[in-house]
Amino acid sequence: MGILLSGRGSNMAALVRACREDDFPAQVVLVLSNEPDAPGLAKAHDLGLEVAVMDHRGQVRQVFEQKIDRALRAADVDVVCLAGFMRILSPWFVARWPILNIHPSLLPKHKGLNPQQQALDEGVDESGCTVHLVTTTVDEGPILIQQRVCVLPTDTADTLAQRILALEHQCYPQALRLWCEQQPNANAHEYADARKEDPP
Ligand code: GRF
Repeated sequence: MGILLSGRGSNMAALVRACREDDFPAQVVLVLSNEPDAPGLAKAHDLGLEVAVMDHRGQVRQVFEQKIDRALRAADVDVVCLAGFMRILSPWFVARWPILNIHPSLLPKHKGLNPQQQALDEGVDESGCTVHLVTTTVDEGPILIQQRVCVLPTDTADTLAQRILALEHQCYPQALRLWCEQQPNANAHEYADARKEDPP
C-alpha cells in the first residue's frame, strides 16, 4: 500500500505496526506527503520506510496528482490509504486507484473539518470513526468499518478526538485487512492495466 498524509501520522504508524505482524496481508511500500514538514513524514522515515514529498503549492491539481500517481506506480502500490491527507482528490485520481480513508465521525454524520466539534455542537451521545472507500465526494463512499465511542458530558473537542483517535488506530488496520481479504487476488491487479497507461 501507499500511504498519503499531511500531518502527524499516527494512523500511518498504526498501519505500519499492523503490517509488521506476521499474518497481515499488506505492507507499506511508500509514504507520501504534500507537506514537506509533516511530522508523519519524519516518523515514516524513522520507521525505515520509503518516503516522498509532493508539495501541492505552485502547481495545478492535475500535475500534482500525476506526480503522486507516478510515484505510487513506481513503488508498485496496489492500494492507497489516506491518513490525514488534506487535499481533495480529483475524479481522475479516484478512478485510477482503490483508496481507503479514515474519518473521525460516524459517517454520514459530521463530514468535513472539525467533526468532533460538530458532534459536540449537535449534542449527540455517541460518535466514533469510519473507514470507507473513497469516491469523488468528500467523506462519502462504501463503509468498511465503523466503531463507536460515548460522548461524555465533560468532553471537549480535544478529549473526544483523543478517544476517537485511539479507536482509529485499531479500526484502520482491521478495515485494510478486510479490504485485502475481499480482493479476488492478493495483488488487486484488476487496476493494474489502468495504472500502466500514462496520464493524458
Ligand atoms: C485522523 O483523525 C483521521 O481520522 C483524519 O485525520 C486525522 C489524522 O491524524 N482523517 P494522524 O495524522 O493519523 O495522527
